[in-house]
Amino acid sequence: MIITIDGVAASGKSTVASGVARALGVPYISSGLLYRAVTLCGLEEALAGGDLRVLERLEAQPPRLEPRAEGNQVWRGERDITPDLHATRIDAGVSAYAALPEVRAWVDDQLRGLPRPFVAEGRDMGTNVFPQAGAKFYLTASPRVRAERRSSERPDELDAIEAALIERDARDAAQSAPAADALVIDTGELSAQEVIDLIVREVEG
Ligand code: C5P
Repeated sequence: MIITIDGVAASGKSTVASGVARALGVPYISSGLLYRAVTLCGLEEALAGGDLRVLERLEAQPPRLEPRAEGNQVWRGERDITPDLHATRIDAGVSAYAALPEVRAWVDDQLRGLPRPFVAEGRDMGTNVFPQAGAKFYLTASPRVRAERRSSERPDELDAIEAALIERDARDAAQSAPAADALVIDTGELSAQEVIDLIVREVEG
């Protein structure tokens, strides 16, 4: 069985997906990390944002997602690139790569090849990648609330973080609509644990 948890940037998807996965005793997979890995490769190869040649550059050593329950890791060969994937420059550059159909197809192939069951989190897990999922959730929260949560993970000012989130939401809008059969949860008033408990109850109920 596959469970999908989609949502806007910094809505708590990874924390919630990890908690739900641990409660259910299955791995979770973070699709955003693969888009981030593509972006890191583009930056390190000094390509312009959204340059499709990034896929050729990845071929020699494609990033590999390791879906550990405590936190996903991405490897390129022997190098663990996970610590490099949450930098502000990746946040700013990722949407341009995620907008390319060829990049999306590459990420989708990686995800569909992973052994099931799992909890999948991202933007289009319940709509495009795993439309047959057994249970689907979509997390939202106001930009301010999300910026406040994110501010502990980024060095930037709160207003700049909020503005960047709003801009990224707009650039990701094409692939970010909730599935028609997803339960939409506004996490603004809820702790991560409350969201996890709510989802686990829904899945087990
Ligand atoms: O979830 P996270 O914020 O780490 O995702 C990083 C970026 O990857 C998003 O801003 C979006 O551009 C892209 N993404 C996507 N589809 C997904 C997951 C992430 O387009 N399923």
